[in-house]
This record gives sequence, C-alpha cells and structure tokens, in this order.
Amino acid sequence: MYGRRYSRRKFVKQNTKAGIGIMLTVGATPSIFACSSNVSGKPAILGGSPVHSGEWAKWPIWNPETDEKKVIEVLRSGIWSRAKLVTEFEQEWAKTIGAKRSLAVVNGTNALIAAMVQAGIGGGDEVIVSSYTFIASAASILATGAIPVFVDSDPKTFQIDTSKIEKKITSRTAAIMPVHILGLPANMPVIMQIAEKHNLVVIEDACQGWLAEIDHKKVGTFGKAGCFSFQNSKNMAIGEGGAIVSDDDDFMDRCYSYHNYGNPYGTAVGTVGSGTVIAGTKLRITEYQAAIGLAQLKRLEQETQTRGENATYLKSMIKEIPGIIPYVLHDNVTRAAFHLFPFKYGKEGFNGLSRETFLKALNAEGINCSGGYSPLNKMPYLNNAFQSKNYKLMYPPEMLDFNTYLERNQCPVTDRLCDEEGVWIYQNLLLGEKSDMDDIAGAIEKIQKHSYTIKKELE
Ligand SMILES: Cc1ncc(COP(=O)(O)O)c(C=O)c1O
Repeated sequence: MYGRRYSRRKFVKQNTKAGIGIMLTVGATPSIFACSSNVSGKPAILGGSPVHSGEWAKWPIWNPETDEKKVIEVLRSGIWSRAKLVTEFEQEWAKTIGAKRSLAVVNGTNALIAAMVQAGIGGGDEVIVSSYTFIASAASILATGAIPVFVDSDPKTFQIDTSKIEKKITSRTAAIMPVHILGLPANMPVIMQIAEKHNLVVIEDACQGWLAEIDHKKVGTFGKAGCFSFQNSKNMAIGEGGAIVSDDDDFMDRCYSYHNYGNPYGTAVGTVGSGTVIAGTKLRITEYQAAIGLAQLKRLEQETQTRGENATYLKSMIKEIPGIIPYVLHDNVTRAAFHLFPFKYGKEGFNGLSRETFLKALNAEGINCSGGYSPLNKMPYLNNAFQSKNYKLMYPPEMLDFNTYLERNQCPVTDRLCDEEGVWIYQNLLLGEKSDMDDIAGAIEKIQKHSYTIKKELE
C-alpha cells in the first residue's frame, strides 16, 4: 500500500456523509470520485491537496533478505568477470522467454547492434523501424552503418503501422526492426508475413517487452532475434544489461563470439591465443550483474501480472473521461508488459487546456507522468551520421541529402503522439493497489472537471 487510499468503500462512505448533490455541482458527469474531498476539491496545481500524497513503489525493488545472498557470494569469490552465473542467467532468461538460446550483453542498445551485425546488416542497407520509440532503436541501426527508415504509428496501439511498412521497402531494405514500445506488442504475425514475402530479416526491439505475448508466444521470439534491456528503469532492472534471444544456434554462436572479441564460441574469459575467428568487440556482463538479474527474475512474473491487472482496471476507470483515449492492444495480444501506461490526451475534452499544463497538474496531484518521446525521424543526429566519412563512402550523395530524407520519413501520427497527445504513467505506479489506480483515475477526472479554471489561471 502506498500513500493515501481512496478505496471504493471509502468513496461510498464519504458519498453518504457529504451528500452527493454538493459534489455533483463540480462537473456535469457524476462519478465514483465526485465526493472525495481531495478529488473534487481545488486542484493541487492551484494550491489544493493532491489526490495522492504518499509514495509510489520505489523502483527498482530490492529485498536484502532474499536478493543479497548470491550477490555477496559473488563479490567475496573474486570471480567477477563472465563465468557460471552469467551462463545461469542466460539459461533462465531463454527459458522465461521461450527461446532456445540467450546471450547476456552490456545493454539493450548493444544487443540490437550485435544481433543486426551478426544477421548481416551493415553499410549500404536500410532498416525499417518504428518511429515512436527511444533513440536507441535508431542509434543502433546507425551504429551498424545502415540507414533507419521510419514507419508511422498506428494511432490506437502506438505501435508500428503495419499497413505502411511495404511502401517503405526498397532494393536496399535488409531488415525490419519492430519495437514493442511501452511494453505493448507490435503486430508480429503481420510483420513476419511482410518480412517473409520480401525476404527481410526481423530483429525485434523487445527492450520494453519482457513477458509480453501475442497468442501466448512471447515477443522477441518471432523474428530472427529479440533484444531486451535490463537498464535501471526497466521492468526487469539490473542497472545496465541486455540480452539477445534466438532459436538459431549458428547465429547465437556468432553473437557469442562477437561479444567476446570474436574468439570462437565458448572461449572462456581470460583465454589468450585462442585464434580469433570473426571481427568482434567486448560486450560481456559481470557475474554480480547476473546475480542481480537472477534475483529480479524471480519477481518478474508476479510484477507483470500486477501491472497487467492494474492497467486493465485503470483503463476501465478513465475511458469515459472526456478527452482521454487509453491505449488499445492488437486483438492477438494475450499479455502486455506495460513498461508505461499510455493514453492519448485530447485538449478539446479539457476546455483547451494544453497537454503541458495537464501534465504539470497531474504531477501536482502526485501522479508521476510524462509526455514521452520527441520525434526521432527529424533530429540532427541523423544528418550528423550522413555527413560522416563512412556514410559518404557507403551511400550515393542523393541518399544522404537530409531534406529528401526528411520528406521520405514523415510520420504525422507519431508527431502528434509526441508533440500533443501522448501521456505516460510510469510502470512503478502500476505496482500499487486498486485504490492507487482509483487515485490516478480520480486525479485525471479532477483536472478534467477543473480544466476551465486551471486554463484561465495558468495559461
Ligand atoms: C525501445 C528501446 N530500445 C532500446 C533500448 C536500449 O536499451 P539500453 O538502455 O539497455 O541500451 C531501450 C532502453 O532504454 C528502449 O526503451
């Protein structure tokens, strides 16, 4: 339990005490929140009491009693570089995801780079990628020497719009990188059909998709490889860390070699003169990272269950609020990971109140939220890569003309999600009780009901 509670029972009690009539004058729509004083009272951004005044679940969760034994053993053993625990973590992760093999690496970004490089992607190629995503998806493509080609988003699911993929395929297209953004699955069966038709490699950016499923199959297992992140904010947090999963033994042997200087598959850490076989780098994680990962992995299933239940409940609570359009999952999704709980904000439902002020008002009510990403398809890093020596050697000048590139990569739905509509509630809030979800819904409704006054006073 975190913070002040507004359970249904408490609402009903307060309703009876305070009298429904008084509270209904606040707004046109009666609701279960209408009679709780700090829900119907003055908005916190205008000096009222916040709906949620307590703490949310601290992230990452760490339980010294159950989690520290292995970590301390590792620290005392002095075996810190890759050894048995990393292998154990990889086996556990592969089992959890339902993949034949897994390789742990330093982070999700490098998981993507390693997977693409070993799938044969490099200079001269184009990689089709979701546009509503974190910079790492695009940065990893550039790191291979390929050019990212952005596809617009589906406005309901926030995922790559599969109906727009084929229009972006050219003779240079080598791969598709769908991103399961926010932990909501991209429509993999359709993406795999397109990839097969055009003979393209699929590398899934599942860096936010731990345990998410389509038709009971985990995301990350549809394409040639799936890549995960275990960075501090992630639902499966190690601090830094990542993993590649795949069923392709030969490919995974090469990924292993690549992450260990290019030495042959299975070469033990510390071996010298083993006869390096491929051009590699060093991406190994440590034993103490694996020990932390094994501890976190024990909680992942239950936490994913809780996030899913709370997200479904919260969605049901806010879907009727004017101006709020919650996420939609593709019909084939059997589980989402909810790295974030997203909804679209329409200021027309809030008397024209800007998203910026709405976010400030919601944060003031004690609900940690943000407006999310900025459009990745038009930032200067792209032109910076295009003007580099390597890109000039690998591509004809017309492909590196930034204005032409911008024209070809327009994504108006993603622009709107980024600039006007997207609102995220952070994953740790979804680990609370049902009454915490009531607080979130109550806070949104409170702002909606007072939107005219908030706008008048603050905008
Ligand atoms: C969608 C997506 N792709 C890739 C990454 C990269 O992961 P990492 O931060 O572990 O490098 C992240 C993590 O932030 C992400 O959210």
